[in-house]
Amino acid sequence: MITGAADGMGLQIALKLCIKSDLALIDINQHKLDAATKKCLLINPNCTITTHICDVSDKQKTRDLALAVAARHKLANRTLLLFNNAGIGGGGSIVTSSEESFDKVMDIDWGGVYNCTRAFLPLMLSAPAAHIINTSSICGFYANVGYLKPNVSYSAAKFAVRGFTLALLTDFKLNAPHIKVSCVMPGWIGTGLIESSQIMLGSELDNMMKVRRNSGLRLQQRIHELIKEGDATTLVLKNKGLLDQVGDVDWSKMSDKQMIQMNTLMGPGFRSNALTSATQAAEIILKGVANDEWNILVGEDAHSLAKLMKEDEEALYNDKTLIPDFFNYDIWEMNRVKGGKGLERVKTKSKL
Ligand SMILES: NC(=O)c1ccc[n+]([C@@H]2O[C@H](COP(=O)([O-])OP(=O)(O)OC[C@H]3O[C@@H](n4cnc5c(N)ncnc54)[C@H](O)[C@@H]3O)[C@@H](O)[C@H]2O)c1
Repeated sequence: MITGAADGMGLQIALKLCIKSDLALIDINQHKLDAATKKCLLINPNCTITTHICDVSDKQKTRDLALAVAARHKLANRTLLLFNNAGIGGGGSIVTSSEESFDKVMDIDWGGVYNCTRAFLPLMLSAPAAHIINTSSICGFYANVGYLKPNVSYSAAKFAVRGFTLALLTDFKLNAPHIKVSCVMPGWIGTGLIESSQIMLGSELDNMMKVRRNSGLRLQQRIHELIKEGDATTLVLKNKGLLDQVGDVDWSKMSDKQMIQMNTLMGPGFRSNALTSATQAAEIILKGVANDEWNILVGEDAHSLAKLMKEDEEALYNDKTLIPDFFNYDIWEMNRVKGGKGLERVKTKSKL
């Protein structure tokens, strides 16, 4: 069972698993699910594949989903793998994002993982062996994607996924030792995440230009205030020329056409500019599952961040110059410092 199987990492996992396994592909996008099924059948025409339209944030629908999977697959004496992979981005700010979009991100990214685990649990308890693979994110251990870049709902949901998954390790060790658990922690992976999030949060996107322009202007205004206040982080970033990369754009002068163009380019850019491709990510995830790893870091950025967190978690929160933008690995402090001598910290603690 793979949720979010129509695109991105879920699709790539399906394309690899179809060689040996039967598949239940779950998503909200029928058109893309059909295309995914065709691709799998090209690889293995004998694979049994069922597709299921289900919004994983809807508890009742996930219960119906589990019944449908049980009815359409021969599950007796088979090992079951559940990839709780579906997710979207958004809900950046509790102040400025709409409550609807904020809640939707929580409901899908955390609620979906919980609902599907709960719904498929009876099947997994009766199976001879099972493995639940929950996708969190680096945002599930570090609640910051860059200087003045709030990412509140997503981070909260991904922390919840991580906490839930790691707590299950103990629960299953006692109460269901045949069920294994893994937590997937991807860095930036080239997928359709921006496009599918835009579809899921459609109502806010009608308002997209206004929201983007306002938050862009707010960002600039705040940067000017912080420079005036002598904020150490802001001054360091400004002096190093790094604010150009985190929002030194004149939003007030951007035409609607430019805004739409920028929005349209974001989806393809997210797919093509990432450090790790969705195919590479799927390989890493499946290798981790085969090796029974409970913590599966995906991508060089995820490994680097996990190491920095272990070295000094407080520094990463106190000093936002270390990772000015998660999505620009080249400007992370450790990559800027020649010779890789380690962390070069701002002396005065930032207020950010
Ligand atoms: N791409 C990244 O950089 C990245 C980084 C860290 C974590 N992740 C996580 O990886 C997971 C997979 O995302 P991806 O990057 O492959 O994105 P993606 O958009 O390419 O794939 C996600 C799939 O989930 C589906 N989906 C969305 N909402 C759904 C819902 N309510 N019910 C069922 N299906 C739904 C989408 O239609 C899409 O096919 C997500 O949980 C995401 O948060 C992604």
